Amino acid sequence: MAKLVINNECKKSTIAPEIYGHFSEHLGRCIYEGLYVGENSEIPNVNGMRIDVVDALKEMKIPVLRWPGGCFADEYHWMDGIGPKEKRKKMINTHWGGVVEDNSFGTHEFFELCKQLGCKTYVNMNVGSGTVREMSEWVEYITFKGVSPMADLRKENGHEEPWTVDYVGVGNENWGCGGNMRPTHYADEYRRYQTYVRNYAGNTPIRKICCGPNVDDYNWTRKVMETCFDHTPEHLHGLMDGLSLHYYTLPETEGDWNYKGSATKFTEEVFYQTLKRGYFMEELINKHGNIMNEFDPEKKIGLMVDEWGIWTDVEPGTNPGFLYQQSTMRDALVAGMTLNIFNKHSDRVRMANIAQLINVLQSVMLTEGEKMIKTPTYAVFHMYRDHQGGALLSSELLENGTVGSGKNELPKVFESVSENEDGIITITLTNNSLEASEDVEVCFTKDGTAYSVCEASVVTGKMDAHNTFEAPEVVKEEAFTGYSKVDGGVKVTLPACSVVSVRLKK
Ligand code: AHR
Repeated sequence: MAKLVINNECKKSTIAPEIYGHFSEHLGRCIYEGLYVGENSEIPNVNGMRIDVVDALKEMKIPVLRWPGGCFADEYHWMDGIGPKEKRKKMINTHWGGVVEDNSFGTHEFFELCKQLGCKTYVNMNVGSGTVREMSEWVEYITFKGVSPMADLRKENGHEEPWTVDYVGVGNENWGCGGNMRPTHYADEYRRYQTYVRNYAGNTPIRKICCGPNVDDYNWTRKVMETCFDHTPEHLHGLMDGLSLHYYTLPETEGDWNYKGSATKFTEEVFYQTLKRGYFMEELINKHGNIMNEFDPEKKIGLMVDEWGIWTDVEPGTNPGFLYQQSTMRDALVAGMTLNIFNKHSDRVRMANIAQLINVLQSVMLTEGEKMIKTPTYAVFHMYRDHQGGALLSSELLENGTVGSGKNELPKVFESVSENEDGIITITLTNNSLEASEDVEVCFTKDGTAYSVCEASVVTGKMDAHNTFEAPEVVKEEAFTGYSKVDGGVKVTLPACSVVSVRLKK
């Protein structure tokens, strides 16, 4: 039996709600069909946004949405996506499937979507093929209240009031699809571009995100930080609020993008290999975080993991450029484990955006015409939603076993614990074992007997269990009853291959 010791006298960092963020790119059926069907669609919508999808995302408490890419962002020219729809430019989405992009979803539609979702906004600007002027005019168009060419244009296009943009990404993957730049060159570009992300008087300050590393490119992190911070201190204020990190879990051949493995057909060995690769996230956070500590010991700059998740082969028969994949219990475990890791590192990780929201990569939902299903990953985000904004509590798992073997060995149980402002404690756990359930004795440094379970849920099933349009509820969040009160706390029995959430109150 493992023992989870919770120090309920030690509140650590606040878990930024943005850790539970999402990403939507003009890629495959994420924006078009997934989120936006247009005002004239027979699929029920409000101003073109699918009602079923918006409702489910609100229920999941989506905190922030990143848009318009991804690689698409560094090819996106925002002026193509404003004004009367019939006059908007059509183009070929060369990155993703070579399909026609008619720009019917643009700036106004994105902010309308976020208004309906009630979430924060994260707009990724074009550095790779754009200009400083184009970027600064976009910020002016979105946020400026007074009289100016861009504010006037926005008003002409039917939106009198400015919107709030909470986060701006200054380029995406500029080491690759965003311009193939060297770190020092990008960092100089970053310094220049970010200067013109204006915070207009009276507005919510825009937080600026600098393009960070691909996976374990520590050289990128160091060079970018060095170049950005090679400056006099008075200029440093507001230079950078976040540094991004992108890491995808490829189940089968590491680094070979031609063969990633099936989303639904895999062996037990590949299951553990996938989890082990997901667990690599912790090492990445520690190592990039250590470099950031040298320049920013007070942790003012967030590590923003704005692309993460499992990336498998596409579903057979679908456009390879659309990145449409299924999601199984394996995805649920990677999500549960990774979100626990993010919570535990919330002193540095301030945002994370799983890729991508709908119909692309590790999505929380899939659609087919008017049908919509929730994936096992949705269940996990829903179960973990109470961590958002909570205080991370110090916790330690003793006598935890391991699963997998050899290079695929990893801890059996992952956990994180937070307390909200009403004193309710949320504990989330994964049991990574395919074979055995696991008892976890939860105890507290103070007043353990005073707590009792007020809510508990579980998502569990075979490793490859997944939902389809024919059988939409094979894997879903269910009430959890596998707990009992013990002296000083609670005993929880985690089923094999499960993610569990237990909430306690005094
Ligand atoms: O999420 C799909 C793609 O992966 C994004 O466009 C890009 O940023 C990353 O390489």
